Amino acid sequence: MSIQEVLDALRADAPDRIAEAADLGQLAAVEAEVAGKGSPIAEGRRGLGGVEEAERKELGRAINEVATELELLIAGRRAVLEQAARTEALAGDSVDVTLPGRAPNRGSTHIIQQVMDEVVDIFVAMGYTVATGPEAETEYYNFTALNFPHAHPTRLESDTLYLDYGDIPEEILLRTHTSPMQARYMEEHDPPVYLVVPGRVYRSDPLDPTHSPVFHQIEGLAADTDITFRDLKGVLEHFAREFLGADAKVKFIPHYFPFTEPSAEMHVWHNGAWMELLGCGMVDPAVFEAVGYDPSDVTGFAFGMGADRLAMVRHGITDMRHLFDPDVRILGQYQ
Ligand code: PHE
Repeated sequence: MSIQEVLDALRADAPDRIAEAADLGQLAAVEAEVAGKGSPIAEGRRGLGGVEEAERKELGRAINEVATELELLIAGRRAVLEQAARTEALAGDSVDVTLPGRAPNRGSTHIIQQVMDEVVDIFVAMGYTVATGPEAETEYYNFTALNFPHAHPTRLESDTLYLDYGDIPEEILLRTHTSPMQARYMEEHDPPVYLVVPGRVYRSDPLDPTHSPVFHQIEGLAADTDITFRDLKGVLEHFAREFLGADAKVKFIPHYFPFTEPSAEMHVWHNGAWMELLGCGMVDPAVFEAVGYDPSDVTGFAFGMGADRLAMVRHGITDMRHLFDPDVRILGQYQ
């Protein structure tokens, strides 16, 4: 075959092979074959020396023409394949900006704490002070200062959890209510006292749908001159309306607590039934005496309510154990 024939064959065959190269690797292989060192073009150039002077110029131009043509085709194909490779890479790590974002898992206040904060806020708005006291309490503050007789049944271990501190002069127990803070606070502060005490309390109860050995109370105490049962009712009715809504209906029914006289329970009309919300009463003069107040000068009222029950009422929870379930999928439903 003459050089010219080889060139003609190349011109006929190479463009399709370049166009058919499916990726940059294949294109590089075709390029080496049709335009590389061992290609007919390189060979033709090397053979020019043996060609007659008259034909050499003509043939040289023909070789260059084919070489230029193929270079252009190869460059064009390379541009197309490079663009395709870029598009594919982009599609591989593209970001779908229409997808919803991943929200960080934010914590929230436990519903019992929410209720306690809310209750405390209602009383703070009426001028009450907030204080907290120890959960490990002496028998004196938990019972004796509050006028519990020595043989009162709730002092028994069947009701109260005692802590074992060995042979010490006074029993230490887990407070069974927040009322000991009445005595502790009045010992430290002269009247007038307007106080709320949120906190954790303990009783020797098994965990069941309506009981827990650990629960939460908010204690209230008002001690001043000329405080009457009407003040108690007015304050607690106001609280019920603030917490449950303006149409909350309440009633007071007689009860007994050693540290208040008279004593009552406040019930609220809720979901078609009366429900006990709190215990309350006028501070017994014996309690004022125990803390060094003069009961002929000072009168007052006290109340204690269960925060757990308020949280259950608010969220329609019927099983108390849900409140203490550590599964966030349960608690997350009550926000
Ligand atoms: N401490 C009482 C209880 O736990 C509640 C209470 C507090 C009653 C203050 C009267 C006055 O049941």
